Amino acid sequence: MNAPSHFTSLDSALGSLLPTGIQFAVGPIPEESRFRFQAEADRMRSAGDYRKREFVAGRDCARAALVSIGFAEAPIPADEDGVPVWPEGALAAISHSRGYCAAVAGRRADYRILGLDLEKTNRLSHSAIKRVVHPNEQSYVQDDQKKATLIFCAKEAFFKAQFPVWQTHGNFHDLELAVEDGENGAMTIQNLGERFPDELRSLTSDIQFRFCYFEDFVVSACWLESSILKRREFFELFPRRSSSYEGRSNLH
Ligand SMILES: CC(C)(COP(=O)(O)OP(=O)(O)OC[C@H]1O[C@@H](n2cnc3c(N)ncnc32)[C@H](O)[C@@H]1OP(=O)(O)O)[C@@H](O)C(=O)NCCC(=O)NCCS
Repeated sequence: MNAPSHFTSLDSALGSLLPTGIQFAVGPIPEESRFRFQAEADRMRSAGDYRKREFVAGRDCARAALVSIGFAEAPIPADEDGVPVWPEGALAAISHSRGYCAAVAGRRADYRILGLDLEKTNRLSHSAIKRVVHPNEQSYVQDDQKKATLIFCAKEAFFKAQFPVWQTHGNFHDLELAVEDGENGAMTIQNLGERFPDELRSLTSDIQFRFCYFEDFVVSACWLESSILKRREFFELFPRRSSSYEGRSNLH
């Protein structure tokens, strides 16, 4: 998607953190809401002007990311929760913040969940920080609004990633994150509350988080590779055989 040159910092931030097979597109919130598809215009009929423009930007970015991995240009409907309905075989995520918009997309064959969030780092109030930051994240965050926003941003990305699969609402304190590698922008889940389903809780160590700061924003993405689930299913189906396979592969 074409975007003015100041979008290059978001562009390079996203380019640095996404894994193979995930494509992205970035763009501005347009001055006018030019809907490419009537179905999308109909959905936004009663929305305010800014919301319409933000929605158009999100749809256009998501379509551009989907096209770059081989999907056809088409309207992107949304379900009753506002979750976009992606084309069969695809998954994607959208985020908009303060004039910026970005979307990521991948193939379901490669990725089971995918989330994205974009936040300005100087906006969280003291009370919002208390709501977002888990007591065990406090030693990392201290009183740093930027670090607190990173935690918020990663939790929003996680929420968007899991919701389409497990439809779970949670509190921010249900998810405890740790910044494992500040330099390369990597985080892991330390704990996920019982409100979330067992299947998801059993996968937390395999969910990847990456983040990057740019200008006075932070962008984060999270994903789970489908191959991890396929491997698990295989080991569950053939536990004895799989242990001998593991033994053999360790020889190499
Ligand atoms: C839905 C939510 C994640 C949107 O985040 P936001 O920072 O306000 O807005 P963003 O611009 O980043 O993202 C909006 C996009 O997310 C997508 N989205 C909305 N609801 C969604 C959901 N339930 N699941 C997945 N994606 C969703 C949409 O694409 C939307 O844009 P669109 O309506 O133009 O298509 C947020 O409002 C929310 O409800 N957060 C709850 C977080 C939470 O409870 N966390 C605790 C558990 S860890």
